[in-house]
Amino acid sequence: MIKQETIDRILDAARIEEVVGDFVDLKKRGSSLIGLCPFHNEKTPSFNVSVNKGIFKCFGCGQGGDAVHFIMELEKYSYPEALRYLANKYNIEIEETEQTAEQYAEKSHRESLYIVSNWAGNFFRQSLWETDEGQSVGLSYFRERGYRDDIINKFELGYSPESWDALCLKAVEEGHQVDFLEETGLAIKRDDGRVYDRFRARVIFPIHNLTGRILGFGGRTLKSDKKVPKYVNSPESEIYHKSNVLYGLYLAKKAISQENICYLVEGYADVIAMHQVGIENVVSSSGTSLTEGQIRLISRYTKNVTILYDGDEAGIKASLRGTDMLLKEGMNVKVLLFPDGDDPDSYAKKVGTPAFREYLTNNIQDFIFYKTKILLRDAGNDPIKKAEVIHEVLESISLIPDEIKVSVFIRECSTLLDVEERALIVELNKLRRSAQKKTATQGKDASAGNRATSPSPMGDMPPADLFDDDAPAARVPEEKKEGQSVSLALKALHEREVVRLLLHYGEMPATWLEADQQYPIAIVLLVDLQDIVFEDPVCKKIVDIYLDYTEKESLPPVRSFVSHEDRAVADLAVSLLSSPYNLSPNWNDDKRNIYVAQETDNLKSAVLGAVYRLKKQRVEKEMQTIREEMRQVATDDDLNLLLYKYQKLKQMEKDLAAYLGTVVVK
Ligand code: GTP
Ligand code: MN
Repeated sequence: MIKQETIDRILDAARIEEVVGDFVDLKKRGSSLIGLCPFHNEKTPSFNVSVNKGIFKCFGCGQGGDAVHFIMELEKYSYPEALRYLANKYNIEIEETEQTAEQYAEKSHRESLYIVSNWAGNFFRQSLWETDEGQSVGLSYFRERGYRDDIINKFELGYSPESWDALCLKAVEEGHQVDFLEETGLAIKRDDGRVYDRFRARVIFPIHNLTGRILGFGGRTLKSDKKVPKYVNSPESEIYHKSNVLYGLYLAKKAISQENICYLVEGYADVIAMHQVGIENVVSSSGTSLTEGQIRLISRYTKNVTILYDGDEAGIKASLRGTDMLLKEGMNVKVLLFPDGDDPDSYAKKVGTPAFREYLTNNIQDFIFYKTKILLRDAGNDPIKKAEVIHEVLESISLIPDEIKVSVFIRECSTLLDVEERALIVELNKLRRSAQKKTATQGKDASAGNRATSPSPMGDMPPADLFDDDAPAARVPEEKKEGQSVSLALKALHEREVVRLLLHYGEMPATWLEADQQYPIAIVLLVDLQDIVFEDPVCKKIVDIYLDYTEKESLPPVRSFVSHEDRAVADLAVSLLSSPYNLSPNWNDDKRNIYVAQETDNLKSAVLGAVYRLKKQRVEKEMQTIREEMRQVATDDDLNLLLYKYQKLKQMEKDLAAYLGTVVVK
């Protein structure tokens, strides 16, 4: 763990304009800087940096935060990783809190595995570029396949010599422990205790984690002998968990975010071929079907996946099921088929870059429709087979968590399958119900399943239980609940307004009060609202922090919110601080200044308005509670008491409304 003092020093040192400026070309506009957003594609800049507040905000895609969040989002780093990046940039020495001996040992053990893997990566690369065998066998193989040198370097490709112990000998000679070679699978131990190299006479594809460290290797044979396995791969180890790694992701992540789509291919060679034609948002699951962990990795960068299949229909059908997992995780899945016998690698080589890219843009289809079409083609006119197709397609649709998408697919598939929409919905609800039962019996650990099967309205379609009497799915929420949620939403808005005023103007004096009572606005707000319980948990957290500070007779610095460890707090602070009043690019400077001037001129109205609104809302809520109680009272005395309370509240409500009328300037 990084010590809090170190974190504070990093946050003090990190200047938002410098951190962002390393990646974005910023121009001055008014009190803020502006540039093209690195998180989405845009041609006119809507990405704002406020030097004073230490935050960035994009009005195009909504991303916003402090310097740490910027690095976290851009590099997809964890919080400590981003802090380390900034510490490095500003030459700040990181002090860690004490570790237990076990924590230390475990960490240094993993570190040793990383070190030996990195060493092996260098060994393979040197063998490729600097030995006769490597050049004449490995390098010439890559070049024959058309790999450019820059791509060979980019992927850190290598070669393992044709020898039983070249790597082991060299590693030991350079001081590495055999245990670590064995644990990473670089060496294999024989029964008699002697060790030999796992990778021999193969070209080597290193596999990286998200930050570019080597975790393991894939080695391809150069022999066409069918008895030799085509690929030999590193085994699982303490640092290499295959189900959480995607080949190429380290080089693809930025492009995946930017293009907001990820291409999924089958092999190492396909990833490399795509890079050669200039497409970098591509990863490979290395020949196995995707795991949940791998899908989660992709979904950190995008919700859109396009699977590039080679044209082998048997293979495609086998993989249809695996694709369902993507749907379940809420991904938008598309597919692209290559002509029979071609994979992305061979097709790119055959037609060249422009034609390949054109093929890619013109031939992508939606997965659900594609699945429907190929299954239908097989079923022909056989009614039983057709029923199976319907079932299979609905099974895929039933996994999609987004109801709006579900209703679109139902509509389209009803045409494709030539079956009435209603019938499909009935069938869909049956599937959901049995899935629900299944997850229920499997225990409570089924959040994804619950999402997929939770009852919710189906767009503008009639609820399915009109047609199927015991269906629990697809039901419209009761009206009363909606009414409640509206007033709750309003309350949240009022609460946010108070927090916004605290953050913006908390330190300014309440100039409308008597000279000797001009406390900071934060104090005025907090005192006036001491009887209000904030319901929104994030607003409450921020207000509580203010209260803590005021007990120590100070106010919290705004930075402590935009850099708060609770992301929800930081996000709310950033979005409130960058509200249109001061960061929006839609206001030109003059207009903006006038607007801000207006709000600062009328701070009294803003502050008192916020206070009265929140109070009025609370009074109204109490009145509602009393109305409900009145319906249930037993005695006249009780009723009179309630009536009395009600009238008092009514008067308070009137007074508050009147105050509001006087303070709110239209
Ligand atoms: P090339 O044949 O050189 O074009 O390689 P490729 O990457 O296109 O391989 P292919 O399409 O044959 O297979 C797809 C992926 O499946 C490979 O990248 C490997 O990750 C994996 N794979 C293929 N063959 C084997 C094998 O024999 N053993 C193991 N463990 N994995 C394999
Ligand atoms: Mn291939």
